[in-house]
Amino acid sequence: KTLPVIAIDGPVASGKGTLARRLAATINFAYLDTGSLYRAVASLILERGSDPNDSVVAAKVADSFTADDINRSDLRDEKVGQAASIVAANQEVRKSLLEFQRNFAKAPPNNHLGAVLDGRDIGTVVCPDAEIKLFISATPEVRAKRRHKELLDRGDESIYARVLEDLRERDERDRNRATAPLRAAEDAVTLDTSDMDADKAFEVAKSLVSERL
Ligand code: C5P
Repeated sequence: KTLPVIAIDGPVASGKGTLARRLAATINFAYLDTGSLYRAVASLILERGSDPNDSVVAAKVADSFTADDINRSDLRDEKVGQAASIVAANQEVRKSLLEFQRNFAKAPPNNHLGAVLDGRDIGTVVCPDAEIKLFISATPEVRAKRRHKELLDRGDESIYARVLEDLRERDERDRNRATAPLRAAEDAVTLDTSDMDADKAFEVAKSLVSERL
């Protein structure tokens, strides 16, 4: 019998990562941040001094991706995030990373009781049969404010207007790409967290999950 999968999708800085990680720990599910795969590929490309828009290089790097690459130290950098959204529009890259994600969902590591995956296309493409699908949203302003605070808190320089602009650019690219664009699956429950703090969003998500599992 296959183990249950929870798909959590949403735009950048929607709070889906925090929520997904916490949810997984609470119900003893394995957690995979699928954005880190695209970030790892982007980081490897930047390290080589290559252009993330070069689709031949991107496809080659993605093809040799391994689980270890998720541990690279620069994955949270803004420039890696931007480059990640460029390589994520590459169909060959997406194809290479798809199998890794599906294997994780099918056989979650360390005897976990199921898997939580978060990203942009988990409910629509990676795990269309997921038992539970959540789509986490919030206004661009709220998300930019959260990201801005996060950057300042970890000691990075940040300008709110710049963060908002980058976020809109990334949203635009994620929503309008031809392959696996960011959107809620038809059977996803959308959770607008614009007026919720992280605790509240977690409580709402947890009760949705316990109703359905
Ligand atoms: O979620 P995160 O910001 O870490 O993701 C980085 C980039 O990876 C996103 O902007 C998006 O373009 C891409 N991504 C994706 N599909 C996923 C997860 C992330 O296209 N499932």
